[in-house]
Amino acid sequence: MHEDPRIAGLFSADEDGELLIGGDRASALVERAGDTPLFIYDRAVIDRQIAALRAAMPGDLELHYAVKANPYQPVVDHIAAQVDGLDIASAGELEIALASGCDVADISFAGPGKRDRELEAAIRAGVTLNIESANELERGIRIAERVGAPLRAALRINPTFDLKGSGMRMGGGAKPFGIDVDQVPGLLQRIGQAGVDFRGFHVFAGSQNLKPDAIIEAQRQTVALVADLAAEAPGPTPTANIGGGFGLPYFPGDEPLDIVSIGQALGETLDARPAILRDTRFILELGRYIVGNSGVYLTRVVDRKISGGQTYLIVDGGLHHQLAASGNFGTVVRRNYPLTNARKFSAPGIENANVVGCLCTPLDRLGEKVDLPETEIGDLIGIFMAGAYGRSASPERFLGHPAALELLA
Ligand SMILES: Cc1ncc(COP(=O)(O)O)c(C=O)c1O
Repeated sequence: MHEDPRIAGLFSADEDGELLIGGDRASALVERAGDTPLFIYDRAVIDRQIAALRAAMPGDLELHYAVKANPYQPVVDHIAAQVDGLDIASAGELEIALASGCDVADISFAGPGKRDRELEAAIRAGVTLNIESANELERGIRIAERVGAPLRAALRINPTFDLKGSGMRMGGGAKPFGIDVDQVPGLLQRIGQAGVDFRGFHVFAGSQNLKPDAIIEAQRQTVALVADLAAEAPGPTPTANIGGGFGLPYFPGDEPLDIVSIGQALGETLDARPAILRDTRFILELGRYIVGNSGVYLTRVVDRKISGGQTYLIVDGGLHHQLAASGNFGTVVRRNYPLTNARKFSAPGIENANVVGCLCTPLDRLGEKVDLPETEIGDLIGIFMAGAYGRSASPERFLGHPAALELLA
């Protein structure tokens, strides 16, 4: 199992073959946490991802962490100390970002439906708002006047291109995110007239992309677009957040993303950037690439049975904690995340089994027809790639089971 290319080099086994996470046995971590199901995030894997990004990307490119990928406070604190800023998507994430000790000047807030109270909290805190519409800009200006604080604002742009091959697309064509390019000059004028502290542009075209060529091309187009728009700005463009979208290999056959070639191409793009962006700071905004492969979801086998000639291992966790591994409420073709019997991580698979969650729905499948070592009731199943969009992106209250525990190891 540990040779699976999706997790190769990230996790090892002790002398008895048990899975080690952050140097500790899986069973010892469960004991420390007190119960299962449990998400464990391995800080060494996070550090390794950040180091790989720093080594691959141009030296002056800034790295931001998108808190939405994993808002567990110890994880955010750990990452905040190593990156150049945090990107948030709600007033709740604002509190997490502020508690991490991140400088407010390095926090930006994007999201299409910010309520007045969220705008006010962000303005009072002094973070940058990535403005998503003309209406939001007007509300921001009014609230800033009322509370007597400056409005720090960048414009989030809905680009004219999309990020091809993305798991999720947030730009190109009709979209609820960002401002269409043809509306931007008018808003830039309004920003100048209202004395807004203009922070620059934000372009986030897509997420979970494993195609370097598509990312390279989108980055080129983003820098060109930002240069065009900067020419209409009321002053210099201090920052350009060029998005991210770096994907992780979740499924069999997925290839890890070649970030070295992306970094090289981005370096060339930035070196050749138009003069108007000479003093602009460029920001890469990543969530899952930083945390996704650090997480293991540990869940205990509570039952084992045979139906129709197939073995079913029923665990105490399920899609209410780790929706993505189940196939997100019914993807067309469901595929398995890497999964192991944590007690026998280094043992070969000798039985074929279905690992299902404890929810009374046929959608609660965590592993279909997986080759596992012989697995007994009481064993721990470890599902990898659980560091991003796990607990916080799953329907935790569905069917009333307890919440999963979390631990940074
Ligand atoms: C504006 C914005 N920033 C950052 C992210 C994080 O994307 P990822 O975790 O895939 O890097 C998203 C994802 O939806 C997003 O919409």
